[in-house]
Formats: sequence, structure tokens, C-alpha cells
Amino acid sequence: PKTTSMKIAVVGTGYVGLVTGTCLAETGNQVICVDINADKVKMMQNGKLPIYEPGLDILFHRNIAQERLHFTTDLGSAIAEAQIIFLALPTPPGGDGSADLSYVLGAAKDIGKLITDYKVIVTKSTVPVGTADKVRAAMDSQTTVEFDVVSNPEFLREGVAVEDFMKPDRVVIGTQSERARKLMGELYGPYVRQGNPIIFMDERSSELTKYAANSFLATKITFMNEVANLCELVGADVDMVRKGIGSDDRIGRRFLFPGVGYGGSCFPKDVQALVKSADENKYDFKILNSVIEVNESQKTVLSGKVKKYFNGDVKGKKFALWGLAFKPETDDIREAPALYIIDELVAAGATITAFDPEGMNNVRNLIGNKISYAADPYSALHDADALLIVTEWSLFRTPDFDQVAKLLKNKVIFDGRNLYDLQKMIDCGFYYNSIGRKI
Ligand code: UGA
Repeated sequence: PKTTSMKIAVVGTGYVGLVTGTCLAETGNQVICVDINADKVKMMQNGKLPIYEPGLDILFHRNIAQERLHFTTDLGSAIAEAQIIFLALPTPPGGDGSADLSYVLGAAKDIGKLITDYKVIVTKSTVPVGTADKVRAAMDSQTTVEFDVVSNPEFLREGVAVEDFMKPDRVVIGTQSERARKLMGELYGPYVRQGNPIIFMDERSSELTKYAANSFLATKITFMNEVANLCELVGADVDMVRKGIGSDDRIGRRFLFPGVGYGGSCFPKDVQALVKSADENKYDFKILNSVIEVNESQKTVLSGKVKKYFNGDVKGKKFALWGLAFKPETDDIREAPALYIIDELVAAGATITAFDPEGMNNVRNLIGNKISYAADPYSALHDADALLIVTEWSLFRTPDFDQVAKLLKNKVIFDGRNLYDLQKMIDCGFYYNSIGRKI
């Protein structure tokens, strides 16, 4: 077990950087997080978290109080003492779908200018194959001091990021340097005490592992979405098919839930980027092109069902919408299917009143009064022609159906997440249309 604590700098305090920094402090390391956004740094110095993530606040406050977690805008002072420097900077999709590396490489240059002794530079952001080499070159152009570059992709899921960091299924470390390998192994030792592996490999394999993992999961979901669509046509129930196939260990029970298409800040971007880097290497990644296409159409499956039910005319109809965030336990609305559904229905002349436990502020900032916002799930229902469920928040799983029936104008529910039992819905007298199940 690790006995001495390490000195760590984390560059970039977005979602990944902040979770990484906080969780690394939790095992006794001295962590300093750097960001160019002075307002954000001030906020964190004052003990306020800029993001919502379950369980993060407790660790954040504890490690600040115990003076292991610090924040600064000054890169130089942050890295002066650090043995390991994590880069957790954004890699937004550029115009052509490939990841924009300007933040990562810019930081690498800056760090190159500043270092005076051996450092390990770790890329934590999701970066295309070959980025470690580019980071190395960017630094080499600025310094003669010795350093190593390591690829250490993150596999955190929003909503359970703290748990994922503290008890990862695996840690992937890409490096060919023995010195860096030893340091990284020590750093992650406390997180894999249950016996989960730290898998060491070369940088390129490590970089590709991240894209392959997300693309595989996106493919798994997309496959089930297509099975669900077929279930509706042949009169099968996707819930049964899901259980039927998921009990085979080779397939596994997880990530087989059909729905309104995958969204969020990772899957859409990473699948695109992997296709793009395949293209650049003159390889046609056919299956992923199909995944992208199917997912696009899956995002409008629910609005399509609504339109069909109202004979193609939803003009003047009023809909209640439960769930805006791309998934539960987050306020993240990036690539959220709800936004596509809203676009489709509002463009067709409908009005929408939405409720989401965490996502409403972000949606309001993005689309303003294009829709109305309710203070709680029930007040969204008043006089609505139908209820649409788009995110599977626990709050929506066991509503008071008598109330729901009373408040809605029509007892009609379109459920994009298969939350309710079919028989129960029949018993309660609802028209209930979900994904891949009988109506
Ligand atoms: C995903 C991966 O799961 C993480 O391992 C990875 O680290 C992360 O991307 C990343 O690259 O940073 P995340 O985007 O937070 O995490 O969310 P997921 O829980 O994976 O959900 C992604 C999307 O798939 C959501 O829209 C969700 O609703 C959808 N989904 C998931 C389904 O439609 N069906 C399922 O069975 C599972």
C-alpha cells in the first residue's frame, strides 16, 4: 500500500478534472487544480462546486477543509511542486468531427516552458490515437528537462462519477516509461484494492481503448434500439428479449435498455471521432456509421409516435414532458434527446411544459421560453393532451397515477424509457405507448 502522498496538479477543472482532482485528494495526495476561468476558481476557493454530481460535494468540502485540495489560475505555481500533471482539458469536436486538440497542446507547450525537473504529464481527456506523441513533441519544442507522457483515459459515468473513480472496474495506463509506470501504479494502488486490474499498455493502445469502449457501448444500445423497433412490428416485448439475451454472460445485462437514443457529451462525440480517425486511415468503419445513423432516427421515435397518435396534427396540442437531462442524476443536457423531441413538436405547433429535477436551468439558458417550465412533475400535467417521459429519474418511476390521470386532459402517456408495467397501465386506464413493447 502507498505510504507517502504525492503532489498532483490537474489542469482544467471541468467535470473530469474536478472529479479526478477531488478523488485523488481523498486518498491523501496534495492536489492543486488549475483553470483559466478566474470566476470559477474563485467560486471553488470559496468552497462552491460549479457542477452537480452526486457525492462529489462531501469529498470536495472535506479535502478543502483538510487542505489537500487547492485551486489556482496560476499554472506555474501549480506545477512547480507537482510530480504528476493531469491534463483534463476540453477536446471539442472540430468542424470535421475530429477532436480539437488546441487546448491540450497549448497547455503542453505552456508546461514545457515552465518545468524545471522531471514530471509525468498525463492525458486524461479523451484524445485521438497519436495525441501522446503530439503532447511529447509540443513539450520537447519548449524544454530540455526530462519528462514522460502517459495516456490514462477516464471511464467515469456522469451521475456515478465519484463511485467510478474511487472503485474503477479497471485503470488503463498507457506508457512505455518504467519510471512513469511505477509512479502511476502507486498513485492508483489505493483505488483498485478490491483486485480490479491496472492494465499497462503503450500509449496508442490506451488512447484507442477509450474510443473503442464508448463506441462499443453506443453500439450495444443502438442494437437494442433496433431490436425494440422490430419488436413493435412483430408484436414481441423488448423487455422480455432484453432479459432473455442479457442472462448470457457473454452479452451481459447492462446497457441493453432501449430508449430515445444515446446522448450526452461522450458517446455522440466519441463515436464520431472514431469514425473520423478510421477515415483518416482509409478505413471505413461501417458498423459505427450505421450506429450514428440509427441513433439520429431513434431520437425522434417518441415524437413520431406522438404525431402518429394525433393523426399527424399536433398543432395547438399541449404536452407535459418529464425529463430534460440526457440521463438521470445529472444536469447535463448536451445532445439530450429531449431537445430533439422538443424541436420536432414545437416546430409542428405544439406547446410543451417540462419538468426535470436538475436540468431546467441549462435548458432555459439554451432555449429560453420555447417551452414552459413546471415547479414539480404534477404541475406540468395540467390540461395536457399527453405526458411524454424522456429521462428515467427515480422520481418518475412510481408517480401517483390517480393524480396523473386527473390532471391530464387525455389519459395518454408516451414513455421513452419503459418505466411502467404494461398491465398496471391497462388497469389504470391509460393509453400507454413505450419503446419496443405492446400498446
Ligand atoms: C459514458 C460511459 O458510460 C463512461 O464509461 C465514459 O467514461 C463516459 O461516457 C465518457 O466518455 O466520459 P455517460 O455519457 O456519463 O458515460 O453516460 P452513460 O450512462 O454511459 O449514458 C450514455 C447514454 O446512453 C445516455 O443517453 C443513456 O440514456 C443512454 N443509454 C445507456 C441507453 O439508452 N440505454 C442503456 O442501456 C444505457
